Amino acid sequence: MTAGLEIRNLYKSFGGLKVAQDINLDLKSGDRKALIGPNGAGKTTFANLITGILHPDSGSVRLNGVDISGFKESKRVKAGVAKTFQITTLFKSMTVRENIRLPILEREGKSQHWFGRAERFSAIEAEISKILAQFNLLKFEETPVRDLAYGQQRLVELALTLALKPRILILDEPAAGVPSADSHMITDALERLPDDLSVLIIEHDMKLVFKVASKIVVLVNGAILTEGTPEDISQNQQVRDLYLGAQHEH
Ligand SMILES: Nc1ncnc2c1ncn2[C@@H]1O[C@H](COP(=O)(O)OP(=O)(O)OP(=O)(O)O)[C@@H](O)[C@H]1O
Ligand SMILES: [Mg+2]
Repeated sequence: MTAGLEIRNLYKSFGGLKVAQDINLDLKSGDRKALIGPNGAGKTTFANLITGILHPDSGSVRLNGVDISGFKESKRVKAGVAKTFQITTLFKSMTVRENIRLPILEREGKSQHWFGRAERFSAIEAEISKILAQFNLLKFEETPVRDLAYGQQRLVELALTLALKPRILILDEPAAGVPSADSHMITDALERLPDDLSVLIIEHDMKLVFKVASKIVVLVNGAILTEGTPEDISQNQQVRDLYLGAQHEH
């Protein structure tokens, strides 16, 4: 049995558009990998193939040796593969604490039965407090999500996802839309993720990528161009021409 996520020979087309072309990627326990590439390269599609929102035309996704390619999204979440919630799925009129409680109840499968059971209740509330503290959200626990700054709403998304206790976490542009003055909140939170969690982060902000990732995978036209350390990637002329160079011109 191999630990972690193993993606092999993944292919996906939308009609004539090849969005995944023989993608191979490993994500081991504790890995911090970034997936970068130009707009339309197929990054979000690849994330969706991992989490089961989309299914590949061919190829396999294995988690700890088990082929999960045929699993639907909810079954993959139960197996430990999670993607951050989208802000649109937060319950904006509910407080931060109430929002975090939902995935915990879901994970515990106790949503129907928890009340009346004081011990269970206090364990759940203690877990929520721990997660809120981890994400610097304790002071906002009774604040409705809609009253938070956008960067803090994105932190709530991350906290919700972590409450599911995933083993593999896929982050699709966690800092998108967050004002640069607040982006440190996201970076700090990412740096404090559990050590044994495997993280694949899709991100255009290279400063954030270089801070968080120890390996970078470059995707172009649905195919992996190269994979290497941040240093390798920043020195790779092909990457600079295709992606970083172009970004610097804008
Ligand atoms: N459901 C779909 N049906 C048809 N084409 C799609 C679908 N989803 C994405 N595409 C196309 O597939 C290509 C890859 O899209 P994808 O969203 O994966 O790119 P991306 O790398 O995430 O880009 P960005 O950096 O802009 O988020 C694009 O050309 C996109 O228009
Ligand atoms: Mg995308």
